[in-house]
Amino acid sequence: MTLQNRPTTEELQEKDNRFLHPWEAMNQLGHNQRTIIERGEGIYVYDSDGNRLLDAPGGMWCVNIGHGRREMAEAIYEQVLEMTYASPWGLTNAPAAQLAAKLAELSPGDLNQVFFATGGSTAVDSALRFVMFYNNSLGRPEKKHIISRHKAYHGSTYLGASCCGKERDKSFLDFETGFIHHISDPNPYRRPEGMSVEAFCDFLVDELEAKIRELGPDKVGAFIAEPVMGTGGVIVPPEGYHRRTWEVCREHDVLYISDEVVTAFGRLGHWFASKDVFGIEPDIIIAAKGITSGYLPLSAVLISDRLMQQISGEHGKNAVFSCGFTYSGHPVACAAALKNIEIIEREGLLEHAREVGPYMQARLRELSDIPIVGDVRGIGLMGCVDCVISKGSRDPLILDYEIGNRIDAHCQSLGLIVRPMINMCVMSPPLTITKAQIDDMVGILRQGIERAMVEVEREGVWSEPAVNRGGPAPHA
Ligand SMILES: Cc1ncc(COP(=O)(O)O)c(C=O)c1O
Repeated sequence: MTLQNRPTTEELQEKDNRFLHPWEAMNQLGHNQRTIIERGEGIYVYDSDGNRLLDAPGGMWCVNIGHGRREMAEAIYEQVLEMTYASPWGLTNAPAAQLAAKLAELSPGDLNQVFFATGGSTAVDSALRFVMFYNNSLGRPEKKHIISRHKAYHGSTYLGASCCGKERDKSFLDFETGFIHHISDPNPYRRPEGMSVEAFCDFLVDELEAKIRELGPDKVGAFIAEPVMGTGGVIVPPEGYHRRTWEVCREHDVLYISDEVVTAFGRLGHWFASKDVFGIEPDIIIAAKGITSGYLPLSAVLISDRLMQQISGEHGKNAVFSCGFTYSGHPVACAAALKNIEIIEREGLLEHAREVGPYMQARLRELSDIPIVGDVRGIGLMGCVDCVISKGSRDPLILDYEIGNRIDAHCQSLGLIVRPMINMCVMSPPLTITKAQIDDMVGILRQGIERAMVEVEREGVWSEPAVNRGGPAPHA
């Protein structure tokens, strides 16, 4: 595009109002003025007015190797020229075959069978359908109930969305409620008053077991859980939670699905967090996002050999897993994933993430002294700032659902994108981020939060409660 015929920001924003965006607010439709991201390089993106912005959410928890990598472009370009598409039904292609073998090598335990889909949601849906297929194949058609958790996010297809547990997203659409159930989210910060973290963990594990018993172990097909709830607000469960819930599932022959759409490919410093961070070997792992670092859409469902062996070969009868997509194992997306993995390996990005992750966590926690900040939490390169009315009550800032957006707007004007979520802001920067860049990020974030706080105070939406100053710390 030449400079002369390049559309202005206003023209693009006008055209963009024809784009029905995810989670579009209907009262704003046609009146949005979204920032137009034009270019990216490393951990930065540039808007259509030329402003440089540090991309703290890493796109949408996905740009793990950073923006604008020439060798990714070349791998994609070469694959397009070499072979753009082949049907995954009767045929296959080299990048898909190589990627399946590579994922089997990188994944924990015996998760060696790989089903490819196009994004996190289609992978979640496919995993849930696989659970149905598995139990039907074993002659257990009743074993279909799925247990998920409040605050979970598992995507936007019908089954995945039904497993989501964010109440605010449930108002205007219909969901499967007959066989999908929700138990408590494991956020230690919002555990019941007076309960220790250990007792909270016991409570959560007992709740899962009770739910399985209530529904009947012969009727529960799977428990689905993110290792760290991302969209729900970077909820890191109490120590031992995953191991114990996984053991409960094992005991009752309930499949454990680990939704690692966000956590896989380095976000917690490992290819997969389930085993290396939380010590569990799930029956199924779902990966997306970081698998290509967002360069192209792709996802994978990794399934345990133990499951496959029970329903294939001589046990396979005439069963056909009638699930798949035109773009399952798309050669160009798989070539991008292979190059992405090669870059992560060659540049030691997992090791780097393990080094800078704790630094980011420590720096972010310094923001706890801001009056409106109730909790700062996270692990690895996932962080969240949770704003509250009062540090004592831990009430989310419900008087102003827009606080996250206000913080984001101030941060953008200062050169930083954060992901606003109601009263929270979450961060998941590219794994390549340096300590100096983390310092910049946290410095701007502090200013953004303080400006938003002054604004809500000035507008009379919030005032600092006396309890903040010298009041008891929550769960003191
Ligand atoms: C844990 C988890 N699962 C599933 C999804 C859905 O992925 P997608 O948006 O690629 O369909 C997401 C997206 O953020 C996610 O965070």
